[in-house]
Amino acid sequence: MYTTTPGDTPWTVPALAQARRDGRKLVMLTCYDAGFARTVDAAGIDLVLVGDSLGMVVQGHHSTLPVTVADMAYHTRCVARGLSRALLVADLPYQADATPQAALAASIELLQAGAAMVKLEGASAHKLDAIRHLSSREVPVCAHLGLTPQSVLRLGGYKVQGREADAARRLKDDALAVADAGADLLVLECVPSDLAASITRDSPVPTIGIGAGPGCDGQVLVLHDMLGLRSGHRRPKFVKDFLADGGSVQGAMEAYADAVRSGHFPDAAHSYA
Ligand code: KIV
Repeated sequence: MYTTTPGDTPWTVPALAQARRDGRKLVMLTCYDAGFARTVDAAGIDLVLVGDSLGMVVQGHHSTLPVTVADMAYHTRCVARGLSRALLVADLPYQADATPQAALAASIELLQAGAAMVKLEGASAHKLDAIRHLSSREVPVCAHLGLTPQSVLRLGGYKVQGREADAARRLKDDALAVADAGADLLVLECVPSDLAASITRDSPVPTIGIGAGPGCDGQVLVLHDMLGLRSGHRRPKFVKDFLADGGSVQGAMEAYADAVRSGHFPDAAHSYA
């Protein structure tokens, strides 16, 4: 096993930036209930995301759009009860960040449910206003760029983002803008590896990739995907079944964490060119 935080003390928001300065990769996994949260914590995962992906992998919807703030608060409370060490991040669900005031009200619910940070998708003007508003109210924020699943209707599907020169430039500008607005962390989803590596080099805050290649400061996967559970959707290229390597649920999580920390995951077979 690779070491995580010094002394394995609980993670804090400033410790994320320190990990990046120290060149330690961050390992993040989604989780939706207390039982799995205990196992995630025991496996030494650094950050836990209560993602609105729960709409698809737990509730059985075809997208994340039906997920509500009440759903997110319920699952955040469940997960918080199972964690003692990992940093808990919770998603602001669809349109919960439509105005800065709505974003703050939803964030208060999620922080009071046990989250230490909220995540929101996109970098349009009102999203940047929401990030600025949250950050000025001492709410730690994780931005999320690239494939933003809450935009699925406009995007027309779950596709790799930033392949064309214009789109790549916009993504680079957006990454700087969310950090400038006050984001503490940035998730990059389904972005070509070279672009994600270049964004990471220029980013003032740590980046966490999912389908964004090995050049990010950390990685995140959806729990159900890395345990090889059938989702009813086509398995994306970046997903790896770690249960096959790990032999048990905790073993799978440890194998994932080791693979990220040692730089073996993601490899080219699980990344986009
Ligand atoms: O909702 C989620 O699980 C996410 C991850 C895919 C990053 O946003």
